Amino acid sequence: QNTSPSVCGMPLKYVSLVTLAVQNALLTLIMHYSRVSAAPSETYSAAAAVLMTELLKGSISLVVAFTRLDCSGQPSPSIWNPHALLYRFRRLGKEVFRPDCWKLSIPAILYVIQNNLQFVAVSNLDAATFQVSYQMKILTTAAFSVVLLRRRLSPTKWLALLFLAIGVGIVQIQSGHSPSSSTDASHDLNAFKGFMAVVAACFTSGLAGVYFEMVLKNSPADLWVRNVQLSLFSLLPALLPIVFSKSAPSPTSGVVSLQLFAHFGVWAWATVCVQVLGGLLTALVIKYADNILKGFATSLSIVISFLASVALFNFQMTLTFILGSSVVLVATWMYNQPDTCGSDGRSWNWRW
Ligand code: C5P
Repeated sequence: QNTSPSVCGMPLKYVSLVTLAVQNALLTLIMHYSRVSAAPSETYSAAAAVLMTELLKGSISLVVAFTRLDCSGQPSPSIWNPHALLYRFRRLGKEVFRPDCWKLSIPAILYVIQNNLQFVAVSNLDAATFQVSYQMKILTTAAFSVVLLRRRLSPTKWLALLFLAIGVGIVQIQSGHSPSSSTDASHDLNAFKGFMAVVAACFTSGLAGVYFEMVLKNSPADLWVRNVQLSLFSLLPALLPIVFSKSAPSPTSGVVSLQLFAHFGVWAWATVCVQVLGGLLTALVIKYADNILKGFATSLSIVISFLASVALFNFQMTLTFILGSSVVLVATWMYNQPDTCGSDGRSWNWRW
């Protein structure tokens, strides 16, 4: 079930992990730039970006799920035959609305909250500080893996998690002393608000990721069908902040769509596209590897974000930041050392 297919001869597992590392760094940089490059009164709606991401991701997943349907009993071998098309639509409908589809509502709500929090965090922290602090999701993912998936962690892994917390703490000391190192003086970065948003996002990331893995690996449904269900359940929570936002115009005014996409420029769309790519890659990584391995891939993006922040955002490289980031990287490396501490038939040794 979980054997990884290959892309140009390379296992999809490797390809998706490496691409995810690059995507993560890119997303942080583009998202940060898209939020701080314009004056605060001219920034786009984060809620609109989250909604667009879900719509795009859901549509792509729907097309892939449609083409992947097992239609051995379909009336015609040609997909364009009207009867065959109808047959496929019915099959897809049945798959998407299968009785256990409600299970996806939980990660869907959590991810929508997380995706909104990410905007708060990235708007109030330097790209590099955000990236390092966001590594705490390894901690929450591990905790939820232990509780929900009944995985056991070796002493080395617990020690690595302790180092991770210490490393993030060190990085926070420096960001607390230099709350705004953005080149744009019109943006007052609120480091405390940003950090609180990161902490909350790490919590939802860990819980949603592990829950999604649990649903995915304990049922025969196709990954892309699960993605469609996830996006469908995301739509309502993604719409809520738009409907209830103070500045939202009356739905009868006819200018909802215009208001919603006010200041939605190239960088906002770039953020949405990279976010969509990240969502699809995350799903592949969870399916063909696991959440912990995903943490390893994303921590590689620290280095990329860090170097790019220095070059692009005039990020001040301090000794404290370098020390904290190094501790986080060493902790990540330690965490991903294979050990033989198995649980419920699973071994922590990676089976590439
Ligand atoms: O930070 P983290 O790795 O938890 O972020 C996961 C991201 O991937 C979220 O933005 C979430 O919406 C997205 N995702 C997705 N489809 C999945 C799993 C996650 O779009 N099946």
